[in-house]
Amino acid sequence: MSSFLCSLLLTFIFTSQISTATTDATGKFRYICDQGNDDGNYTTNSTYHTNLKTLLSTLTSNKDINYGFYNSSYGVNTDKVNAIGLCRGDVKPDDCQNCLQNSTALLTQLCQNRKEAIGWYDDEKCMLRSSHRLIFGINEMGPAMIAWNLQNATKEVEDEFDKGLKNLLYNLKNLAASGESDLKYAVGSDVIGPNNNQTIFALVQCTPDLSETLCDECLDKSIKEIPNCCDNRIGIGGRFLRPSCYLRYETNSLFYQQTQDSPSSSSSSPSPTPSPASVPSFSAPPPFAENTTSSPGIYHIKLMKRS
Ligand SMILES: *[C@@H]1O[C@H](CO)[C@@H](O)[C@H](O)[C@H]1NC(C)=O
Ligand SMILES: *[C@@H]1O[C@H](CO)[C@@H](O)[C@H](O)[C@H]1NC(C)=O
Ligand SMILES: *[C@@H]1O[C@H](CO)[C@@H](O)[C@H](O)[C@H]1NC(C)=O
Ligand SMILES: *[C@@H]1O[C@H](CO)[C@@H](O)[C@H](O)[C@H]1NC(C)=O
Ligand SMILES: *[C@@H]1O[C@H](CO)[C@@H](O)[C@H](O)[C@H]1NC(C)=O
Ligand SMILES: *[C@@H]1O[C@H](CO)[C@@H](O)[C@H](O)[C@H]1NC(C)=O
Ligand SMILES: *[C@@H]1O[C@H](CO)[C@@H](O)[C@H](O)[C@H]1NC(C)=O
Repeated sequence: MSSFLCSLLLTFIFTSQISTATTDATGKFRYICDQGNDDGNYTTNSTYHTNLKTLLSTLTSNKDINYGFYNSSYGVNTDKVNAIGLCRGDVKPDDCQNCLQNSTALLTQLCQNRKEAIGWYDDEKCMLRSSHRLIFGINEMGPAMIAWNLQNATKEVEDEFDKGLKNLLYNLKNLAASGESDLKYAVGSDVIGPNNNQTIFALVQCTPDLSETLCDECLDKSIKEIPNCCDNRIGIGGRFLRPSCYLRYETNSLFYQQTQDSPSSSSSSPSPTPSPASVPSFSAPPPFAENTTSSPGIYHIKLMKRS
């Protein structure tokens, strides 16, 4: 009803093979019910439905998992359900579980009866997906949501921005891909501009069940799509939300926590991250609001099918 209305009112750029995606009423949860692929539906109260509920309600129950990745299955044969929950590498275990629990409620409600569904909660602090297909250890580039800030890098720094951004992202990609099987995540920053007054912050992450090669492939394809993905413009911020990997960058807004409690991510800063003293006035991350105007913080969104 209200979410249905919302999805009608939102402005999306549709590619030729589009699935329906939308945002929940609070604007915190973005999801794709995979209508474009049409992987089929389950019947309410069927075994599949029961298995899905059981799986999702127990997904984060293993309190030994402190690295933000949950992958499991429940059921047998055609009623087997698979799910992956992944938290952004800088999200603490308690927040991670909370984020995935909230996502569980939203995803099952918003993608009711869909056998395949994916959603990202609260600035992509976590991703939750469920499927009847085997989804572990494989690289899935879609369904994807790509968003880019409609404010371009200024003309005077355009080339430098492009080069600096790509260089940063490729470095981070290598770090993330070579990460352990519990965390494939890297963050870093680069400073550009005439007065060194522009800092690009970036974050990349793969589901850690991917091999180094597959993680590399997923992130590499995402980086190579800049700026072709996005009306051939390099916005000052951008996000690639895919089932297997996540990439985000922002200019002059630090959107991730620099203090990590996970051991493997402390080594994941390739370029010197400015100390807080040298970046005193960076604004809060822009909201992920979609529209077709050109104001800062406004993103355009493109959706892509699984294949
Ligand atoms: C599943 O449900 C959706 C939404 O109700 C519908 O559009 C789609 O055609 C259904 N798919 C199948 C295979 O029945
Ligand atoms: C599913 O089960 C619940 C709880 O037993 C029941 O209230 C509901 O009516 C059932 N729905 C359908 C469509 O069978
Ligand atoms: C989950 O939802 C509850 C209730 O709406 C909210 O208080 C909490 O902050 C949410 N968790 C996260 C991680 O956003
Ligand atoms: C950076 O410095 C240049 C040159 O002084 C100025 O034009 C630009 O607005 C500054 N950018 C920011 C983000 O402060
Ligand atoms: C979950 O992922 C880990 C690697 O991160 C892997 O060792 C494990 O086998 C996976 N579980 C399933 C059910 O595929
Ligand atoms: C950004 O760049 C694109 C492509 O060059 C251009 O069409 C657009 O007008 C620019 N936007 C702004 C706000 O300058
Ligand atoms: C979003 O863009 C549309 C079309 O450009 C415009 O009509 C609408 O007023 C904008 N909404 C907001 C909240 O800026």
